[in-house]
Amino acid sequence: MASSLALLFLGLLGSTCALPPPRISFLLNSPERPLVHFSLTDVSNTTTLLLSNDSSTLYVGARNAILLLDVSRSDVISLRSKVTWSPSQTDTRDCVNKGQDPEGDCQNFVHVVQRVNSTHLYVCGSNAYNPQQAFIDMELSVVQQDKARGRCPFSPFERSAAVIIDQELFAATTTDFQGKKPQISRFLSKDGRPDISLDSISLLQEPRFVSVSLDPAGQKLYFFFSEIEKEFSFVDKLQIPRVAQVCKDDVGGQRILQKKWTSFAKSALLCQPPQQFPFNILEDMFALQPPEGADASETLFYGVFTSQWSRRPESAVCTFKLKGIRDVFAGTFKTLEKETYQLKRTAGRKYLGQCGLSNSSDSELSEVRMSYLTSSNVRPVGPVLVFPEQKYSRVVVMKTTAANSQQYDVLFLLTESGFLHKAVPSDQGLRVVEEIQVFREPQRVKSMILSSSKGLVYVGTSEGVTAVPVARCLSYRSCRQCILARDPLCGWSPTRRTCTGLDGADDDIVQTLEVVTGDECQPAEQILQHKEVFVQLGEVVTLQCMKPSNLAALNWTSTDAPYLSNRTFIQAADGSLRFLASARTFGSYQCQAEEGGVREVVASYAVRSASSPRHLSKVNQDPATLGPEERSVGSEEPTVIPTSDATQNETFITTGSDPEERVTQAKGDAFSVQEIVPTSRKDSRSMKNPAEEVPTQRSYHSELVAVSLLLAACVLILVLGAVRVWRRQRAGSRSDRLPSADDRTRTNATLEIHSLSGPEDAGPDQTIIL
Ligand SMILES: *[C@@H]1O[C@H](CO)[C@@H](O)[C@H](O)[C@H]1NC(C)=O
Ligand SMILES: *[C@@H]1O[C@H](CO)[C@@H](O)[C@H](O)[C@H]1NC(C)=O
Ligand SMILES: *[C@@H]1O[C@H](CO)[C@@H](O)[C@H](O)[C@H]1NC(C)=O
Ligand SMILES: *[C@@H]1O[C@H](CO)[C@@H](O)[C@H](O)[C@H]1NC(C)=O
Ligand SMILES: *[C@@H]1O[C@H](CO)[C@@H](O)[C@H](O)[C@H]1NC(C)=O
Ligand SMILES: *[C@@H]1O[C@H](CO)[C@@H](O)[C@H](O)[C@H]1NC(C)=O
Ligand SMILES: *[C@@H]1O[C@H](CO)[C@@H](O)[C@H](O)[C@H]1NC(C)=O
Repeated sequence: MASSLALLFLGLLGSTCALPPPRISFLLNSPERPLVHFSLTDVSNTTTLLLSNDSSTLYVGARNAILLLDVSRSDVISLRSKVTWSPSQTDTRDCVNKGQDPEGDCQNFVHVVQRVNSTHLYVCGSNAYNPQQAFIDMELSVVQQDKARGRCPFSPFERSAAVIIDQELFAATTTDFQGKKPQISRFLSKDGRPDISLDSISLLQEPRFVSVSLDPAGQKLYFFFSEIEKEFSFVDKLQIPRVAQVCKDDVGGQRILQKKWTSFAKSALLCQPPQQFPFNILEDMFALQPPEGADASETLFYGVFTSQWSRRPESAVCTFKLKGIRDVFAGTFKTLEKETYQLKRTAGRKYLGQCGLSNSSDSELSEVRMSYLTSSNVRPVGPVLVFPEQKYSRVVVMKTTAANSQQYDVLFLLTESGFLHKAVPSDQGLRVVEEIQVFREPQRVKSMILSSSKGLVYVGTSEGVTAVPVARCLSYRSCRQCILARDPLCGWSPTRRTCTGLDGADDDIVQTLEVVTGDECQPAEQILQHKEVFVQLGEVVTLQCMKPSNLAALNWTSTDAPYLSNRTFIQAADGSLRFLASARTFGSYQCQAEEGGVREVVASYAVRSASSPRHLSKVNQDPATLGPEERSVGSEEPTVIPTSDATQNETFITTGSDPEERVTQAKGDAFSVQEIVPTSRKDSRSMKNPAEEVPTQRSYHSELVAVSLLLAACVLILVLGAVRVWRRQRAGSRSDRLPSADDRTRTNATLEIHSLSGPEDAGPDQTIIL
């Protein structure tokens, strides 16, 4: 068995190709991508979310509170009612006496919120490490409250899975203060049948429960989790992602397995890309109902996995079909031998893994008891999608019908750092269409649910609840941007000349989800931004240009000077163009964005001389302080666009470790840009234009230039000095650094793992064995 385990470690560390970055990035509260927030000053840790059937009410489990939020409107979330549910003084005191932190742990963190019936909610909270449950009626008065060991965890931070089906509660959690004893149970059992729990033999090893789903037809429930594979005691505990089944109506055996599941069984979930370590820690699992008319066995489970061997952020998405899970539990099992405590493959017995075994013979139930592990593993459908630079922790998926009438699954993946990635399938796996920042502080406990009908993703965090619209097509401001996004939720309406959602949209909507050529749009260039700029001779001119997407490259051209020499013009890292105003540089400039072979002018400027001396004195003024006559653009007289005195303000900043490479930056923007372009969070990664020295041509204001150059030189000398000092310090600290103990153990661990794999074990198919 150990040798077959070694197969896990074959073909290690195959290179993963770098995926393109998210196409567009929106920082928190970007006006281009508005979110709806809800928070209350006296309520925190709003981390358990449940949506009502009609998507009009959001039930929220928080710290010492349960909230009912009105979410019937998509642009505002309001409080309908709130019930306070704090631990008693005795509970708090006991908790503190056991060494827990009074604020962080000894409060009531609500882990479970479920609907019981049309009038009542079931809730379960950690209650200062003494779990309590309660029934709450919709007016939010606590009806009944009692101890709830086994229904939800003691710890505020532990994840558990619970669901109420037909008023019976199915829960997977640990049942003790230390969080060491896992249990999967049925409570509130109906019709006098007993509550059922796991058999006493250790069926689970330190599981981390993630979610639970009901098989709509099979009367079975599936619990998803990762656990320790105890057969192998390695350097690290080997994690293994699992699905476990129980039958909803199991009543336990008559003599053997009394009040225990006769239907419990578990299997491994495989999520291993070719030539790589398996992604073996399950982070989240989302069940996507099949399209209308399709069989329930077509239900898809989207799992987000990380790897215990990853040293940098990395995750994978694997998709499983309900049919595959059903097949594995209908197949053969391994049996634990009493004498050796080894798992041996058994010949297929029809009854293993089945529901309705309660009246089976004792010998059959004895065998059922020892045969809880399937022989085969659940394999993903489709490829393993690896995200080399992202650590995803939650996923929700929606189905959408694109303009070509085809159905697409759109994934929303939440990163550890608080970005929501919207990903759609493409030839290369998944393409991240946009990323939206939803919180700043990393969250240990968080949750995410989707309202497909409302087109909103709700994220629950320590601070509050945030609703993220699944799309904001208006943020694509031109036909080409709309098409280039390749967002199945958005298309270009030529009649209305906007990028729009598809529901109820015109028939002639333009959308391309495969290769964009640019021909989809009218040939006439739509210029996103056009400005006239009036400047004094010798002034430093800065023309702004924002990249419309992280994948675009910018290119400045001028109709008057077809070639923009890098001696005269500087294209800064932020995309702006800078130069000194002179008779030769007056003229018109275009900033062109290029993405996937599609070009578009995104900004265009006409730079003209402001010759009238009247305006000289106004140069340093703020736009707000200007009189109305100065602000009126388009009057007969040339108008000064207020600029900071950029020449004076010029500083030269030496960036990076290469003092040759200079990037100029001005403290003030020379020209205010009226239209806001989506901010690119990762501008620097796709754009780095080496800029030459600042232009040194003659100018009519030679004094001004001389002074500014002197100033610049001083600053440059200072900065170079600072860089030298910094480099020396860095070199010093580098040589001081010895390999840490941590590094060394890691190396050893890797060596041990390698040595386990003999060449004869090669076999791409058998990967995880149990
Ligand atoms: C909500 O859905 C459940 C199950 O689909 C159903 O039993 C219940 O009656 C529904 N409640 C309302 C208020 O529609
Ligand atoms: C709903 O469930 C609660 C708690 O079990 C119970 O008290 C109440 O009578 C039920 N209401 C209905 C309409 O079934
Ligand atoms: C088991 O037997 C009892 C009586 O012998 C019967 O009432 C019950 O329905 C049987 N259960 C199953 C699952 O067959
Ligand atoms: C509760 O919220 C606070 C910040 O408000 C956070 O530090 C803490 O980790 C959260 N606890 C849980 C259990 O989410
Ligand atoms: C910039 O655009 C011009 C005209 O479209 C083109 O000839 C040139 O190759 C482009 N330069 C870069 C660096 O893309
Ligand atoms: C830089 O420009 C700002 C805004 O125009 C101005 O207030 C400030 O005095 C300038 N700084 C220098 C050093 O000239
Ligand atoms: C400026 O352009 C010339 C010729 O195109 C090139 O050789 C030189 O490296 C460029 N300088 C910088 C700093 O980009």
